[in-house]
Order: sequence, then structure tokens, then C-alpha cells
Amino acid sequence: MKVLVAGATGALGRQLVPRLAAGGHDVVGMTRSSSKRDVVRELGGTAVVADALDPEDVARAVAEAEPEVIVHQLTALSGSPDMRHFDRYFATTNRLRTEGTDHLLAAGRAVGTRRFVAQSFAGWPFARSGARVKTEDDALDPGPPEAMRRTLDAIRHLEDAVTRADSTEGIVLRYGGFYGPGTSLRRDGGELPELIRKRRFPLVGDGAGVWSFVHIEDAAEATAAAVERGRRGIYNIVDDEPAPVAEWLPALASALGAKPPRRVPRWLGRLLAGEAATVMMTEVRGASNAKAKRELGWQPRHPSWREGFAQAAA
Ligand SMILES: NC(=O)c1ccc[n+]([C@@H]2O[C@H](COP(=O)([O-])OP(=O)(O)OC[C@H]3O[C@@H](n4cnc5c(N)ncnc54)[C@H](OP(=O)(O)O)[C@@H]3O)[C@@H](O)[C@H]2O)c1
Repeated sequence: MKVLVAGATGALGRQLVPRLAAGGHDVVGMTRSSSKRDVVRELGGTAVVADALDPEDVARAVAEAEPEVIVHQLTALSGSPDMRHFDRYFATTNRLRTEGTDHLLAAGRAVGTRRFVAQSFAGWPFARSGARVKTEDDALDPGPPEAMRRTLDAIRHLEDAVTRADSTEGIVLRYGGFYGPGTSLRRDGGELPELIRKRRFPLVGDGAGVWSFVHIEDAAEATAAAVERGRRGIYNIVDDEPAPVAEWLPALASALGAKPPRRVPRWLGRLLAGEAATVMMTEVRGASNAKAKRELGWQPRHPSWREGFAQAAA
């Protein structure tokens, strides 16, 4: 199939493009900069240069490529996360998830794109009540913390626009927290190990917030499966072992050979790290991958972050 990957040069895109190419697909990779044409070529795709926030640019790029499938992996999350100003840190990503999604859907409609696969997140957007591990049928947070409201709105927009699109088979992949090559937790470093080594990633309150992770290679495998055989709807793309922060954070610190994380009470966590970080440490929920395994025929090669983190930290 002809597949256009928007975000071909990002952490997920770099894993996805070669897999699609190896699967016999004709891949066009979108980037903003001509200087990254070679990156896309080396990954096995043909580059198209376009700004995803410019509707005319997107229309032109998609019209040239005439893709049967569009994959939306656009984010703007490079650099150090700013959890104190969550919505501000996500501001450009939120535009890519609202305006960017709309531009790609409209451009795809104009050329008759059959399938549209888009990135979302499995974790903090879930309702912070009920089961500690959520399925695709469970609700998103009806009352997110003020600091995360715009980012959740953007996620809702993307998920609704994609799954309700009548012109294409819209598929949303809610990935767990990425780790592995090109992510913030990788063999040659990354932002997360640095924070943990400096003990600047404390365990807040009871650390009962449940996180789901996924190795970036497994996420790319699942995405390729969705491109080929996904059905309209949402899939959680996470590993087999959702775990509370109180469990994974000390384990990661130990794998990194770092001192155990500092423990701070919730009120102090709020003061130091802000509302969003505190909620993520204490209240958020993890996700089940049963549907993706069942319907995409996908199995994570890194079923548990335990071994995965140890490898990534080695
Ligand atoms: N589920 C998760 O945990 C999750 C999800 C996403 C990201 N992250 C993390 O966030 C960090 C950064 O992610 P990343 O490496 O994927 O980089 P990124 O800076 O978030 O960029 C991702 C992709 O979006 C493209 N892009 C951004 N704005 C664009 C625009 N206006 N027009 C066209 N393309 C645009 C970039 O293309 P060009 O730069 O080539 O133009 C790139 O291919 C990594 O640590 C990653 O692991 C985590």
C-alpha cells in the first residue's frame, strides 16, 4: 500500500518507516525540513516537505502522495518535559492534534484515503476512578486537573475526529509511555535517567498512580499491524504489566545504578512539581492490551518494562 507517515522522523516514525518499507509498502515520510529528506530516505521512504499546521502545505503533500493510508505521528515533545506547565509544554502538540489532525483528514478525504491511523496516549487521560487498568471502552477523565485541561481537550478532539470520520477507517492508537531508541529512556542516555540520577524525579505521596509503558519497537510493530489490518476504533498499545509508580520508579533507579528516588509528601510534591506531576504520581490509571493482541494479532516482544528498562538502562 501507499502509506504517508506524518512524523516520519520522530521517535515512532523512525521505527515505523523501515518496518512498513520491509513489509513491501511504498512509504512517503513527511518532515518540515528539507535537511531531513536524507533521514527519510535512509529509513526507506520518500520524503515530502510540509508543515502540518499549514493546510495548503498538507493538501499539496497528500495530493502528491495519494496515500491509501495516512499515519499521524505528529508531536512537538523534544527537549526536557515541563510538568509544572503541562498545557504549555504540550501547546504545539495540542495544535498538531487538533488543527494538524483536521488538515490531514481533509487532505486524505480529497484523495480517497482508505485508512487513517493516529497517535494518542494511554494513561493520564483516563478517568481517575474505578479500575486501575482501563480498556478502550472506559471513559476519559471527565474532570482533569486545570493544568492538563487543554491537552486532554486536544486528545479528545483527535480521537473523536479520527474515529468518527466518515470518509476513512479511523484508528486511534493509545500508546503507553515510550522507552527504547530515540525516546527519553534509551541506552545512550535520555532525559529520564538524567533526572533520576540527579534525584530530581521524586516519588510523590503513595506513588499509587499506575503507568503503562511500551517499548518503541513494539509500538511501531503494533502501528504497522494497524496500518495493515486495524479496524475503526481505539486500541491500547501497551505492555503486559501496568505498574504503580511506587514499583517502577525504584526499579528503574536501581537498573540505572542510581540512588533510590526521594520520597516527598503529596502537598510538597504539589508545591515542587505541580498539580499535573502529582496527579500522575498518585492517581492515574494504566491500560490493558487485550484488544490489540486479539484484534491486531500483535504481541509485544518486551512484555514487561522490568526487563525492558533493565536493557534500556544497561
Ligand atoms: N507515548 C509516549 O510516551 C510519547 C509519544 C510521543 C513522543 N514521546 C516522547 O517525546 C520525545 C520527542 O518525540 P519525537 O522524537 O517523536 O520528536 P517530536 O519533536 O515530538 O517530533 C515528532 C515528529 O513530528 C514532526 N513534526 C512536528 N511538528 C511538525 C510540523 N509542524 N509539521 C510537520 N511535521 C512536524 C517531526 O518532524 P520534523 O522534525 O522532521 O519536521 C517529527 O517527525 C521523545 O522522547 C519521545 O519518546 C513520547
